[in-house]
Amino acid sequence: MLEAGKTKFQIDLRRYLREDGVDDKLTHLICEIAEASKYIVNSIRTGDLGVAGTSNLYGEEQLALDVLSDRIMRKRLAKSGVVSNVASEETRDVIALSPHCAGNYSVAFDPLDGSSLVDVNLAVGTIVSIYAGSDLMQRGKRQVAALYILYGPRTTLVYTTGNGVHEFGMNQLMEYTLLRRNIRLAPKAGIYSPGGLRNRYSPGVEGFVCYLEAKGAKLRYSGGLVPDVNQLLIKSNGIFFYPHLQGAPQGKLRLLYELNPMAFLIEQAGGAASNGRQRILEVQPQAIDDCQPFFGGCRDDVAKAEELIASRG
Ligand code: F6P
Repeated sequence: MLEAGKTKFQIDLRRYLREDGVDDKLTHLICEIAEASKYIVNSIRTGDLGVAGTSNLYGEEQLALDVLSDRIMRKRLAKSGVVSNVASEETRDVIALSPHCAGNYSVAFDPLDGSSLVDVNLAVGTIVSIYAGSDLMQRGKRQVAALYILYGPRTTLVYTTGNGVHEFGMNQLMEYTLLRRNIRLAPKAGIYSPGGLRNRYSPGVEGFVCYLEAKGAKLRYSGGLVPDVNQLLIKSNGIFFYPHLQGAPQGKLRLLYELNPMAFLIEQAGGAASNGRQRILEVQPQAIDDCQPFFGGCRDDVAKAEELIASRG
């Protein structure tokens, strides 16, 4: 494995993936997703911020940008020639592209997570989970790659193929070049990002927030999963959680599109990701739109959350 830290040289994504020993088809797929993100970032910067007049499967109003980003991703994945099945957070079904092609991959993605933050000009992102073969209803531990693209003041791409976590930045030519290799998380969090309404937290989760406050952890929550997880990875420190709530025992975040890829990235950086009782990557999805509570980040604090939830609920 290459040494952790920043790099002085411009190494582009394709070359890095090859040097990282990633299979050719998977390299091609990740680079196609990186290509798609160039169009998505352009739409975010200049596109229509209005509503599309449709709603997604969760009854949330879709923005024109959600619909456009979904189309951009879907087209690129279809064109890649290496994808069997796709599932997008914006639509209901698993869509078969070339389901019987041996050696292909299947992809679950959220094309524009946190899109309600675009009008207030906060950061948003694309989240991608990749499996070998055609089955998307597998435990997250079967993922062969996970990545997100963060559209903030800068556009960055963070991926893992099970060999560490690596960050790339989009340069002036819209190419991704290596920023940091082998990102590592400290064991203890000094930053916390808590989702959901505190007055609906269970006693265990309330106890966990009190524990974080008592140890002097700083609250840093943007309301976007991608920037919030990116913050803890890049600062090498932090915990993000969106817990089970009164009236929402499964929380809000979706296992296939949001939690599995983030859990894979966090674990690969030496952190932990749990639903409060079980490792996220061990959860068997029952339905494409399953939600789970989530506690992800520095491993000692995830363990503390599990301990408090086990004793207080
Ligand atoms: O799932 C969409 C999303 O916007 C995530 O990006 C984010 O973590 C979460 O919802 C925020 O939800 P809330 O507004 O309830 O804190």
